[in-house]
Amino acid sequence: MNQDEEKRKAAHAAMRYVEPGMVVGVGTGSTVAHFIDALAERRHDIAGAVSSSQWSTQRLKERGIEVLDLNTTGDLPLYVDGADECDDQRCLIKGGGAALTREKIVAAAARQFVCVIDASKRVEVLGRFPLPVEVIPMARSLVARAIVKLGGQPVWRDGVVTDNGNWILDVHNLRISQPVELERELNQIAGVVCVGLFAARRADVVLIGDQVMG
Ligand code: 5RP
Repeated sequence: MNQDEEKRKAAHAAMRYVEPGMVVGVGTGSTVAHFIDALAERRHDIAGAVSSSQWSTQRLKERGIEVLDLNTTGDLPLYVDGADECDDQRCLIKGGGAALTREKIVAAAARQFVCVIDASKRVEVLGRFPLPVEVIPMARSLVARAIVKLGGQPVWRDGVVTDNGNWILDVHNLRISQPVELERELNQIAGVVCVGLFAARRADVVLIGDQVMG
């Protein structure tokens, strides 16, 4: 099975978690694109969606799904999103699409986080995929120097501005064996808006194609 077909299968498998009347939290990326398409077929059956990016908002609206404000919905029953890497503990690296901050917010609001990936995303130790860190633009260099002291190699994703008007550093050379601790440590650097490590709030269920990761 090719990678895109596996992503599509995972997205369709995630529809099993969608129940009538739900407000569904929706992530960002090519796997989620399949999920939005599947969700559109049940748009009259759900109360709407909370989106994690401008890109997803546009796709949801184009398919007739109402996009709701998280400030009015309260907690969500379900969040469905992809990932760039996933370890055996369901800790994730996310942010390849630069949507990590809003993704983390919607994930934090959700009682269940279903992560949809293809098999290439599963790793023993996180860090082969460069870790995205969203930073306030004026702090880019300050944050980069702090990350170098921690052993990472930050590379500015030049030309990319997030939905929140910030910049992204992609941190290479990390072997993340203690994701909760590293997430906490990076969060403490002044100027860091969000770290693409989803460890404190990790996935509850990971679907690789249509199989639940054991
Ligand atoms: C966007 C993300 C995506 O979930 C991640 O990049 C995976 O994307 P794809 O489903 O296209 O492989 O974190 O910020």
